Amino acid sequence: MATVIAIETSCDETAAAVVKKRHILSSVVSSQIAAHQAYGGVVPEVASRLHVEMINAVVAEAIAQSGLGWDQIDGIGVTAAPGLVGALLVGLSAAKTLAMLQRKPLIGIHHLEGHIYASYLVDRQLRPPFLCLLVSGGHTSLIRVENCGQYLTLGQTRDDAVGEAFDKVARLLGLGYPGGPAIDRAARAGDPGAFDFPEGNISLPAGGFHPYDSSFSGLKTAALRLVERLRAQEGDLPVADLAASFQASVARSLTKRALRCAQDHQLSTLVVGGGVAANSALRSHLTAAAQAQGVTVIFPPLSLCTDNAAMIACAAAEHLERGHQSSLSLGAQSRFGL
Ligand code: KG4
Ligand code: ZN
Repeated sequence: MATVIAIETSCDETAAAVVKKRHILSSVVSSQIAAHQAYGGVVPEVASRLHVEMINAVVAEAIAQSGLGWDQIDGIGVTAAPGLVGALLVGLSAAKTLAMLQRKPLIGIHHLEGHIYASYLVDRQLRPPFLCLLVSGGHTSLIRVENCGQYLTLGQTRDDAVGEAFDKVARLLGLGYPGGPAIDRAARAGDPGAFDFPEGNISLPAGGFHPYDSSFSGLKTAALRLVERLRAQEGDLPVADLAASFQASVARSLTKRALRCAQDHQLSTLVVGGGVAANSALRSHLTAAAQAQGVTVIFPPLSLCTDNAAMIACAAAEHLERGHQSSLSLGAQSRFGL
């Protein structure tokens, strides 16, 4: 059973965690959200600098909380792609230094594979094949998980990621950054049936719609037009109703595609990963619809939905057990397929 420490610095969280097989021994996340809030989004240069400031303390804390010594650690996992290159490089440099210093193997992990592996920390009996709905600030994908390292992308967004749509619509509603949690909070007091939003269907040349792909840029434009019209008519925006209607339409759209895909591919388990998996409308809508279809859904707890290093360590531990490791010349990649 491999024990791995992993580092995650692909965006705006500096994170380190120790995982023994599928058990979390420690998980430390230092969020930069407060620093980026003033700018309304993540500023790459600020992110890199804050990662540099925090990385040593976060790694030391993860080791201390795990109660293990370095002699009990079998390998060093690290997110190598995709993400902000400057931010990734901070984590990679730290991981390579530790690998050399402690003479441990280095295991580079794809960030999305990490989000998939968050579910193994929740259900330790989980075995492929299963379907993963990956919904984050950078991706909206339906992935068939065949095995460790074997992934087939069956559906994706043609433009914006769903998390990006949440962030942009939140800005439009004056809800600040990060937008997803802000919309989720505002929606609690709203009516999800108050407004209609498009479902983001992709038309096919032969007619009909692509069953698994989606578009979120149209949703954002629809929100912009609606907000302009409401402002002109009424002055004050019904923010809670808009937030509730927007997230309900996103939840319907994702649920429809994910369950159709599970049915077509005869997969009875659906795991959800990425920051948007924290969304309460998606959680309740998808859970109810999946139950009706006899599909088991696994939603990780909120702390494992958003970026963390435990999911990276879990993926790295499995790769290490299979004899996979990376060279010390491993580089950071901003865009990289799974
Ligand atoms: O997975 P993640 O932490 O980082 C990326 O890999 O992108 O996802 C971040 C995204 C952001 O767009 C954020 O607004 C969204 O996840 N998010 C949410 C919620 N919590 C975070 N979106 C909707 N509802 C939430 N409760
Ligand atoms: Zn992520």
